[in-house]
Amino acid sequence: MTSTSNIQSVQSESAVYAPSSHFAKAMPSLHVPDMATYEKLHTQALNNPENFWGDIAKEFHWYKPWNTVLEWNCPDAKWFSGGTTNACFNAVDRLVANGQGDDVAILWEGEPAGDNGDTPEIRKITYKELQNEVSRVANTLKRMGVRKGDVVTLYMGMVPELAFAVLACARIGAPHSVIFGGFAASAIVDRVHDAKSKVIVTCDGAWRRGSIVPLKENVDKACEQLPEVKNIVVLKRVGNSINMKSGRDQWWHDAVAKETTSCACEEMEAEELLFLLYTSGSTGKPKGIRHTTGGYMIYTAHTAKLTFNLLPRAGQIFWCTADIGWITGHSYVIYGILANGVTTFMYEGAPNAPKEDRFWRIVQRHKITHFHTAPTAIRAFMKWGDALPAAHDLSSVKLLGSVGEPINPEAWMWYREKIGGDCCPIMDTFWQTESGGHLITPLPGCTPMKPGSCTLPFPGVDAAIVDEQGNELPANSGGLLVIRKPWPGMLRGIHGDRERYIETYWGKIPGMYLAGDGARRDGDGFFWIMGRIDDVLNVSGHRLGTAEVESSLVGSKLVVEAAVVGMPHEIKGTGIAAFCVPHPDYAHAADDALRQKLMLHVTNDIGAIARPDMIRFTTGLPKTRSGKIMRRLLRDVAAGKETTQDVTTLEDFNVLAKLRESDE
Ligand code: PRX
Repeated sequence: MTSTSNIQSVQSESAVYAPSSHFAKAMPSLHVPDMATYEKLHTQALNNPENFWGDIAKEFHWYKPWNTVLEWNCPDAKWFSGGTTNACFNAVDRLVANGQGDDVAILWEGEPAGDNGDTPEIRKITYKELQNEVSRVANTLKRMGVRKGDVVTLYMGMVPELAFAVLACARIGAPHSVIFGGFAASAIVDRVHDAKSKVIVTCDGAWRRGSIVPLKENVDKACEQLPEVKNIVVLKRVGNSINMKSGRDQWWHDAVAKETTSCACEEMEAEELLFLLYTSGSTGKPKGIRHTTGGYMIYTAHTAKLTFNLLPRAGQIFWCTADIGWITGHSYVIYGILANGVTTFMYEGAPNAPKEDRFWRIVQRHKITHFHTAPTAIRAFMKWGDALPAAHDLSSVKLLGSVGEPINPEAWMWYREKIGGDCCPIMDTFWQTESGGHLITPLPGCTPMKPGSCTLPFPGVDAAIVDEQGNELPANSGGLLVIRKPWPGMLRGIHGDRERYIETYWGKIPGMYLAGDGARRDGDGFFWIMGRIDDVLNVSGHRLGTAEVESSLVGSKLVVEAAVVGMPHEIKGTGIAAFCVPHPDYAHAADDALRQKLMLHVTNDIGAIARPDMIRFTTGLPKTRSGKIMRRLLRDVAAGKETTQDVTTLEDFNVLAKLRESDE
């Protein structure tokens, strides 16, 4: 079959790929070998979640067993109430105790690697070494006065020490709040402030495509507004010149080296906070999503086990390309993979450093067996050409993963053929920061696959498509994606904002968790995600609130009003389009220079991921008579489409005409 015929066939949804027999043959065993087993598990889990999740939790280490598996008082769930455990113990010490101490836990490759990418720094950290390193970091934090419940902020590059720090926090019961290293100083200010965090762990800098991201400098800038930060630990990674403030800042290599490798794990109540992770919502202020110890740990470990068919000591090397600053990195670079006793591979830098074939060199060099990335990356690989993956031996790869945004069928086909040797199953995993782990996903060797569909709910996830009143819709009707029953990995709230938690997720359709995505279910019960229904954009698989970008644009003082919408983008999936009304002082010169200034402002203010792809200047924004910006109309204009929206309520018809006229 040629790739063109594949692409044509998949444009009709009838294309179904049988669960890969190739995968089944390549595995010593399958956790869920067929659909009959899946159906049985799913029904059992829905009918009796207590037994189902209780049995799974028994595979982990508990200091004290739970009294009840689930107490559900919508919207509050308590999982494994009365039980005490430790997530670090279960991801590290338990494996050492089970005889995996000498197995590689983390395999890491640094970005700088010579002209061809062939001489990188490589580190292998066994489970035993990980236990030692994590304990040293944990002791360092304790020495600085960090106690159970104190939030520690981590703002680092993709280095093993970031994983050590995450696990060290878990070890001593100090919730971590990881901030993506691509965010700028203001993001640090908001998050540190909201979490009341007094300790930051950072690096001097991070490597990104051969240049240095000045992490410590960003922290210093943020700390001008954060007098509450008392201690900063700095890992030397790139050797750039930085300021060290005496009394506040200390080097990782000084502080950590002098600590011992012995540090007992803190006994944590199952419902005690494991971490906060900030994510964008529909207001300008990111939400601190709360995840607790027992439920998150069990859920990420179990979803990782089934979705990727993880098996300890079977030679599996799992590479999820996500940054640890996002939920995917938390769940499927660190917790879920390590808890299964499988080697997690981490790469420090960019896919095109020094050249566009870097990922394929890595796959070949380390014999990666599970490769998991985002559709935006796949589209970039497609653009870079088939010759690059073809020039490398990718035969070690047995399973592919996709996450973060809907995967278009063309990308799905390319991924399967060019990376997956035309036989690897693709796990298109739908989930969210809030869900902790997979919600809807195929299981390898089990679920038939339809390119572009995330297929069926994970066992026990009661996903449905409903109308605004919560009535389930018939097959193929677009509607709201909801989850009707609690699951162990679900968020336990938004930090410091109970009302927003209730209103965002549970208030719109009482009793149901509203995911915020539009979706439909086809006649076979397969889910097709259509995209966000709120003012959240999914740019390159990263969540970004339109309000965040708007407030940054207005904050530049160069414009008086701004409206941000998504627009189709070949690589990013969704690009950022901004419609701006310039400040009167600049109105006469609303030109390319102003556009560049605004783009730079947003990049410095939020980070490069928020940089608008298109800025249009206008004298006014189209609004309804009640003053609401007509975003759908702006989306049509940004996409270059004739608007389908009723414009009879448009306040000023001329605005629409002018928007169309304005050049980019
Ligand atoms: O819109 C959905 C999209 O990403 C959103 C969640 O973003 P975030 O919390 O940053 O987590 C991303 C990684 C789990 C969802 O509401 N999304 C995520 N995975 C998929 C997806 N859309 C379609 N298909 C997916 N597989």
